[in-house]
Amino acid sequence: CGIVGYVGGHQAAPLLLEGLGRLEHRGYDSAGLAVLGGSAGVRVAKRAGRVRELADGLPRRFGGKVGIGHTRWATHGPATDVNAHPHTDTSGRVAVVHNGIIDNAAALRDRLTAQGVDLVSDTDTEVIAHLVAASTADTLEGKVRDALAVVTGTWGLAVVHADFPDRIVAARNGSPLLVGVGDKEMYVASDLAAIVRHTTTVAHLEDGELATVTAAGFSTFRDDLTRTTREATTLDLDPEAYEAGEHASYMRKEMLEQPEAARRVVSGRLDKRFATAHLGGLNLDARETREIQRVKVLGCGSAYYVGQMGALLIEELARIPADAEAASEFRYRDPVIEPDTLYVAVSQSGETIDTLLAVQEVRRKGGRCIGLVNVVGSAIARECDGGLYLHAGPEVAVASTKALTTMFLGFALLALQLGRVRDLSIADGRRLIAGLEALPEQVEAVLAQEDALAETARELAKAESLFFVGRVRGFPVAREGAQKFKEISYRHAEAYQTSELKHGPLALISPAVPTVAIVPDDELTDRNVGALHEIAARGGPLVVVTHEGLDLGGLPATRIDVPRNEKELDPILLTIPLQVLAYHAALHLGHDIDKPRNLAKSVTVE
Ligand code: G6P
Repeated sequence: CGIVGYVGGHQAAPLLLEGLGRLEHRGYDSAGLAVLGGSAGVRVAKRAGRVRELADGLPRRFGGKVGIGHTRWATHGPATDVNAHPHTDTSGRVAVVHNGIIDNAAALRDRLTAQGVDLVSDTDTEVIAHLVAASTADTLEGKVRDALAVVTGTWGLAVVHADFPDRIVAARNGSPLLVGVGDKEMYVASDLAAIVRHTTTVAHLEDGELATVTAAGFSTFRDDLTRTTREATTLDLDPEAYEAGEHASYMRKEMLEQPEAARRVVSGRLDKRFATAHLGGLNLDARETREIQRVKVLGCGSAYYVGQMGALLIEELARIPADAEAASEFRYRDPVIEPDTLYVAVSQSGETIDTLLAVQEVRRKGGRCIGLVNVVGSAIARECDGGLYLHAGPEVAVASTKALTTMFLGFALLALQLGRVRDLSIADGRRLIAGLEALPEQVEAVLAQEDALAETARELAKAESLFFVGRVRGFPVAREGAQKFKEISYRHAEAYQTSELKHGPLALISPAVPTVAIVPDDELTDRNVGALHEIAARGGPLVVVTHEGLDLGGLPATRIDVPRNEKELDPILLTIPLQVLAYHAALHLGHDIDKPRNLAKSVTVE
């Protein structure tokens, strides 16, 4: 979900709508605005659907220079007009927008109902509006504090009240929120993207903090209303980086930005003399590095799959046992945290709640956790003991492309540094550095095959169901490929180890069920090709992603070739064509590429 707020000298509604448009990738099943408009009190417009529909249906008279807006990704209750934010109290003088989840909402709803309050929505947020209205405090800050004193859960929220028409009160606990400082105008946002066109001077609220925001400035408080000091800092950002520009979609733009992102993430981090990488931000000296007995990677979605690729890289290059686990599962199985394990959290947004809570679990138990994170200053980055930023630039499309590529390269740098402190030879170090340097151009070469890939994608899009298969290094590639394909084309795509086909999935193979197979030129090529012949023999159409010039032994397949690099770096080059396949399948099927149904870019609720 996304939040934006404005207080200043201009009309709030157009600015809020613009901000919501930029936040839409974070949640897009409903949207709404509340504006403080003089004697009219609080005016609210909200509806299920996209921001554009909200804008088109906005009443003509919607004036006011203070307001809040929200894009929703449904958690409590379906995407309907009433469940959309902002939520108001019975008198309609209080309006609230909220990200996060109120854990005791059911009990609070019961209590409010018993008091005769008529709750109109199914949401957890609505209770906050009623609690703010019921408080007897004489300031809005006091009312919000009173409301938050009885709720448990997570929130990033913004409140306006007709009796306090000069301000927004914001609060944060577990869901990101920042204040943007303009010239005699101020913003509140859950994500910088919402306001970057207007200001890049921002202050991030901490958990447990409240802020008063007026046109003249802002002040921050702890929940007992004692003042905190929070300075705004000006970030060096290019607002253009947040625009799709001439591209048909953010996903296409971000795919094409991959060669550049691949250059940036390694830039300044390679040391040719010692054939290693320098990641100063890890805060790991050589002795500590030697003491690491295990590496555990934690992430969600595509970050989890790339984490599997990364764990293999670390195990291969640094010879440290390594594996990856979905952060959401890890923290619920009461994991044993080992003091000599290096935990690695990987996240584009740095906000995914499951990953953040997994990091907190590791640290609470005394473990050491580093982060591979794209968004600078994000919650996960701040929570970790150290890490490296991915420098992918803003990623807007829900389906991750360039961030994923930089994650993989971040793992390669990490593996190189760990390996060179341990037993990786200088020759292997040099070999990998040469590979990393060659990679951006090779990514470009794969992207240049877009036309041929589009044709294959259109063929694949005809199938209701597909398999993606690979082995060892190729298996997380297959998982990521299936994930991309299903999330934007809505076709059923399932990843399997090629070696496991005969233990089940082969039963489903038919001319109607194509298989996309990852077959790099490596020690498993012959076995891979052998297994694929079994698919061909059953009439299953095959698309094989492989290396240029590799002999596939007469396998009847549509072939997608990628350039050769060092075998450890293969996974990323094999992943790129799968992004293009998913993109063109979705385009062909007429789907919204950047905002696939039911999904959100950053999942900040459990
Ligand atoms: C969501 C997105 C995925 C993403 C995952 C992890 O599910 O739809 O594309 O991979 O979150 O996001 P993160 O920001 O932690 O990398």
